[in-house]
Amino acid sequence: MTSQTWFITGASRGIGLELARAALAAGHRVAATSRRHADIVAALGTHEGLLALDLDVTDSSQIAAAVAATQARFGGIDVLVNNAGYGYLGLFEESTEDDVRAQFETNVFGLFAVTRAVLPVMRAQRRGHVFNVSSVGGISGAASGSLYCSTKFAVEGFSISLADEVKGFGIHVTIVGPGYIRTDFLDARSVRFATTSVDDYAALSAELRGFFEDRSHQQAGDPVRLAEAFLQLAAEKAPPLRFSAGSDALEILDTRLASLKQERDAYADLSRSVDGSWA
Ligand SMILES: NC(=O)c1ccc[n+]([C@@H]2O[C@H](COP(=O)([O-])OP(=O)(O)OC[C@H]3O[C@@H](n4cnc5c(N)ncnc54)[C@H](OP(=O)(O)O)[C@@H]3O)[C@@H](O)[C@H]2O)c1
Repeated sequence: MTSQTWFITGASRGIGLELARAALAAGHRVAATSRRHADIVAALGTHEGLLALDLDVTDSSQIAAAVAATQARFGGIDVLVNNAGYGYLGLFEESTEDDVRAQFETNVFGLFAVTRAVLPVMRAQRRGHVFNVSSVGGISGAASGSLYCSTKFAVEGFSISLADEVKGFGIHVTIVGPGYIRTDFLDARSVRFATTSVDDYAALSAELRGFFEDRSHQQAGDPVRLAEAFLQLAAEKAPPLRFSAGSDALEILDTRLASLKQERDAYADLSRSVDGSWA
């Protein structure tokens, strides 16, 4: 496998950390970024191929500095992994405008900003691969996912469109949609729940919170195996536009595809009844 330069956001814990570890072990150069680069060094130690950098994806000056430092050290960026993110898993009416904005700042606008900073490097090289970490919540939704899933749907629409814009420069885009992966995602250090309450939702809200708390650190999906899948996808000549990670992710995708098809067919005549003709 040719050695590549990886730039990974949210590499202090979970999927990003395991990916940084695996990429280094495979002989790649890795710019591993997180809000506190010391967390990365504590987890991975120092390594000739490792550049640990402070990067809060909501901070544009840190983004520019991290990309510049990576170019200075490694001379380019072959693979960008937009992985940093968290789940706000409260119900919509129990969320605040600040909750909404914070969720989008990290999961969507942060991802946009990092991509915007890295694409000129990849265009100049006439090659690159952007991985955008979405979720099963990027193709489906359920109670408690109104904010989180809408950010991941945004990531999916962005990625599909971007792929078409940059393919002429030899840049691939791959959406990675994991199911439940055993990380800190559902841990109090990462997940956010509603801080306001609405009586009508009290029972549902408590049930869902209990559901997620019971599953924290119990998830079946293995971040080490997911990291290996990233490495394999990054080595492919024609990588997929979307990759589902985990059997649960495949099942959720199948259910969603079947339901889209069933409703599409059930209402096809009404859909066509809207047709006029182009002016
Ligand atoms: N685990 C799952 O079941 C699952 C399923 C589907 C999708 N995902 C997605 O996978 C990605 C990684 O999540 P994970 O499961 O590895 O969760 P995690 O263990 O909680 O790790 C999240 C990582 O994102 C970082 N992060 C959060 N906000 C950030 C910000 N503003 N700037 C920079 N870094 C930030 C965290 O850094 P700090 O240490 O500084 O907080 C941490 O490194 C997320 O996009 C998540 O939505 C996870």
